[in-house]
Amino acid sequence: MVESESAWRGALYGPAGFFTRGEVPADHFRTAPLVGPELAEALLVLLDRVDAALGRPDRVDFVDVGAGGGELAAAVRELAPRSLAPRLVVTAVDVGPARSLPGVAWAREAPSSVRGLLVGHEWLDAVPCPLVTGPSDDPWLARWWPVREGERAEVGAPRDAAWAGAVARVAAGAALAVDYGHVRADRAAGRYAAGTFAAYRGGRRVEPVFDGSCDLTAHVALDACAAAAGGDRVLVSQRDALGALGLTGSVDPAAPDWLAAAERASRVAELRAVGGLGSFGWLLHGVGVPVSALLPPLPPWRP
Ligand SMILES: C[S@@+](CC[C@H](N)C(=O)[O-])C[C@H]1O[C@@H](n2cnc3c(N)ncnc32)[C@H](O)[C@@H]1O
Repeated sequence: MVESESAWRGALYGPAGFFTRGEVPADHFRTAPLVGPELAEALLVLLDRVDAALGRPDRVDFVDVGAGGGELAAAVRELAPRSLAPRLVVTAVDVGPARSLPGVAWAREAPSSVRGLLVGHEWLDAVPCPLVTGPSDDPWLARWWPVREGERAEVGAPRDAAWAGAVARVAAGAALAVDYGHVRADRAAGRYAAGTFAAYRGGRRVEPVFDGSCDLTAHVALDACAAAAGGDRVLVSQRDALGALGLTGSVDPAAPDWLAAAERASRVAELRAVGGLGSFGWLLHGVGVPVSALLPPLPPWRP
């Protein structure tokens, strides 16, 4: 393991690490599950399509890997429609302390055989990786992120392995990684020549230190994760994916509670904002279920 990777891992996941201690995004940065229930609603639409493709089995899993405070898992549990709720098993997976949420099981590892939908929401950006300054002869960089003299980059191989391992746990259904990141064309063009490694504490970007006092993160090479996990898959923007799942953000002028409808529309707009959460990537793999049964054709992700 490269020294920077082990320092990063120790800072987040060592005995006194940032996430080991139980720090959660809610206290340090804003993620989509904290915006409101709308992301969970969209994932329930996706889960319904998975459920239908699986023939509405007796048990349907929703597994949230890297669950943080468990907000997404809890909202999926709470909002599950009556047709699904009795068959739905929700598991939140995190290496941090277990939290007590009604109807949500906590685990430190994803179940070995998932039938339903496994989601990694802003999980992969928290998987530590080697930090390099070019030139470098690293084979992952040679394939995915050509670096020139003096340019900085993160070696995404540990994310590829983490994601491939998670997708391999899906016996039938789908796996979805949602994260901020980049694609090879933009990396190769030098758009990320300074690297993307960053630290956050208390809602602010801070100078990275490896002492467990801040979150350490970097953009995710989702195209490399896609290739590592293989199979039938698409990589699209959150903006397009949410639109395809029915979250368009338009306000019905005849809505009985117009104010509530307008508030909801503004949360949907935040989730779909170009340059913000809407520019996150959705990497969706189908396992025994064609991705075309889950999402219509959408333009490829280009953050
Ligand atoms: C950036 S937070 C995202 C939390 C939440 N999904 C959200 O979007 O608000 C990343 C989370 O992934 C967890 N994590 C990192 N590696 C993990 C692993 N191998 N297994 C389970 N959880 C992990 C961390 O402990 C942390 O809570």
